[in-house]
Amino acid sequence: MSSSAERDAIVLESVSRSYPSGDAEVTAVCDVTLRIPPNEMIAVTGPSGSGKTTLLNLIGGLDRATRGALTVMGERLDLANEAALTRFRARVVGIVFQEAHLLPGLTALENVVVAGLPHAPAHELRAEATMLLESMGLADRLGFPPSKLSAGQRQRVAIARALLMGRPVLLADEPTGNLDASSTEDLLAVIAGLREDRELTVVVATHDPAVASFAERVVRLVDGRLDGESRFDRVAPIERHELSD
Ligand SMILES: Nc1ncnc2c1ncn2[C@@H]1O[C@H](COP(=O)(O)OP(=O)(O)OP(=O)(O)O)[C@@H](O)[C@H]1O
Ligand SMILES: [Mg+2]
Repeated sequence: MSSSAERDAIVLESVSRSYPSGDAEVTAVCDVTLRIPPNEMIAVTGPSGSGKTTLLNLIGGLDRATRGALTVMGERLDLANEAALTRFRARVVGIVFQEAHLLPGLTALENVVVAGLPHAPAHELRAEATMLLESMGLADRLGFPPSKLSAGQRQRVAIARALLMGRPVLLADEPTGNLDASSTEDLLAVIAGLREDRELTVVVATHDPAVASFAERVVRLVDGRLDGESRFDRVAPIERHELSD
């Protein structure tokens, strides 16, 4: 492992993911090399079908690269066996999607706690989940079922569930796809706050320039390949930059 791979939170070296398709194959992610330092928020943009979700699934240990080396928080995912990948998913990365996918019969707090139950004692999980939800402005919603939460509040619960047990990497696939502009701003502020408090590394796939404008770096995928990158100074944690294009 190179020294840079040890220093960076996420390192992709010539990573590709191909799927068989009849006699040919579809290359969803093609020869991507990318280093993401700890505590960075990076946005992955690009047209539909350009490989954003595939890239997140690879970094999250939900899918395996067909080529290349992929290191996340020191773990070589391309070399890891299934047991190591399971542990990695429990301890290192949390993933949120466009939908919160909460269990309807449980409260907000219970939805967060159950996600960690196989891995840690309930009282510890409860304390951490309560702290997380309170830090996201949900102190008075802990006992509410998902049906009595707004879409933005449900996404905050999904983020709390993803970060439980001190996971240091948050992957978000179109997390604001179902939110209006004001809820999108609120969720981004919540993510920015968590990032400061917990030194999170955040990778967000998005079509929304408002979301990308919160990232320090925006990369674009086209047909699975990296096609451009913009960097922005980090002025303040929840201050946004103007995107030029
Ligand atoms: N399991 C699979 N089998 C075959 N092809 C796949 C599979 N998953 C994704 N693909 C293909 O890989 C390419 C990238 O898909 P991906 O879902 O990563 O794109 P995306 O950028 O997330 O798109 P969107 O913006 O619509 O969410 C697409 O051409 C898709 O059809
Ligand atoms: Mg996608």
